[in-house]
Amino acid sequence: MKYQSYIETPIKFDKKTGLGNCQTLALERRYSDMKSMYLDEETRKKKEEQENIVVYRFYDLGVPQKDSELSFGTSIVYPGKVGKEYHMTNGHFHTILNTAEIYYCQAGYGMMMMENPEGEVLYKEMRPGEVIYVPGRFAHRSINLSSTETLITFFTFRSDAGHDYGTIREKGFRKIVVDNNGNWEIKDNPRWK
Ligand SMILES: [Fe+2]
Repeated sequence: MKYQSYIETPIKFDKKTGLGNCQTLALERRYSDMKSMYLDEETRKKKEEQENIVVYRFYDLGVPQKDSELSFGTSIVYPGKVGKEYHMTNGHFHTILNTAEIYYCQAGYGMMMMENPEGEVLYKEMRPGEVIYVPGRFAHRSINLSSTETLITFFTFRSDAGHDYGTIREKGFRKIVVDNNGNWEIKDNPRWK
């Protein structure tokens, strides 16, 4: 059997960047990839035209998508806001809906926003050294609550779970997180369908 690099050797995760030494970029999202994800679509569009910077990136190790495997890697959300909403990931359900996931916060300050199809909402702040357990059936989105620091988390979930991005793209999350004079605040998403 030919072992893959992630089995053969320990993977060193750099404490500063959060990156493992044999990871590759799996996904990158700029303002142009986040149409209608923020409440203030006009500001998002302006930002896309002016700078179109990277909002977040995922790195993984290319683990085969089999039920016996665990995918893992690093999620990085850069600081910033669109209107009053913090930079965040688009968020997703897993295609195999009943799939849990672990996030370990390596750096920064953020929040995991979660909701299931039945309408239950969970949200948890994340600080370095803390683990968030995302239960099965819950869509999840990482939000960077810091105005200066990059939010870096390590994630792992069963490798064959797949990603359903479309449901969130269409419906949004029930709750949004906005800045209110330097503090975060949860609000109903008026655009939720
Ligand atoms: Fe996930």
